[in-house]
Amino acid sequence: MVKKNACVFISGTGSNLKNLILQSRNYNFPINIKIVISNNRNAFGLIYAKRNAIRYFLINTKNDKYIHQLTNTLIKEKIELICLAGFMKILPKKFFDLFRKKIINIHPSLLPKFKGLNTYKRVLENKEKKTGCTVHYVNKKLDSGNTICQKTFYVAPNDDEFSLKIKTQRLERVVFPEAIFKIYRYN
Ligand code: GRF
Repeated sequence: MVKKNACVFISGTGSNLKNLILQSRNYNFPINIKIVISNNRNAFGLIYAKRNAIRYFLINTKNDKYIHQLTNTLIKEKIELICLAGFMKILPKKFFDLFRKKIINIHPSLLPKFKGLNTYKRVLENKEKKTGCTVHYVNKKLDSGNTICQKTFYVAPNDDEFSLKIKTQRLERVVFPEAIFKIYRYN
């Protein structure tokens, strides 16, 4: 099986990156993580790129100049799937035209509910019975592209933001690889 070249964008902890690297060691996992992109030079997740000898690039998102160089890198490296995994910046709209249907994101709520930040807090404030996480295609509107995979769990009466985060991120380890399998199932 010929694996597709993928890149992972991060900003912080990188637990999804760590998991995707682990998954990609399986011979039947559809992608190979060729590069990592971070807008934060202190992102803890960069350690997983270093440990696994995956090249990483830092981007400065303060103005849109970086986008030209980033696009060239992704094209040069023949990247076919861009995984946003805790990437906390909004990419410029022209980026989506270039990589249509090739960018996916993981979000810690049951989209279309609770787009944007502070999802756990809002889930609790809204007294939701269920929550979970979603992997979706990225388009020009925030957290609004088509859903690829979603996983749900029941909110317990004693759940707080911390426990919701732990439970959600545990499910993220399952849903992100599953979404990637799903994308390539028929390809
Ligand atoms: C994840 O919970 C993801 O849903 C959200 O940001 C968090 C990133 O975590 N978009 P990590 O950096 O992968 O540990």
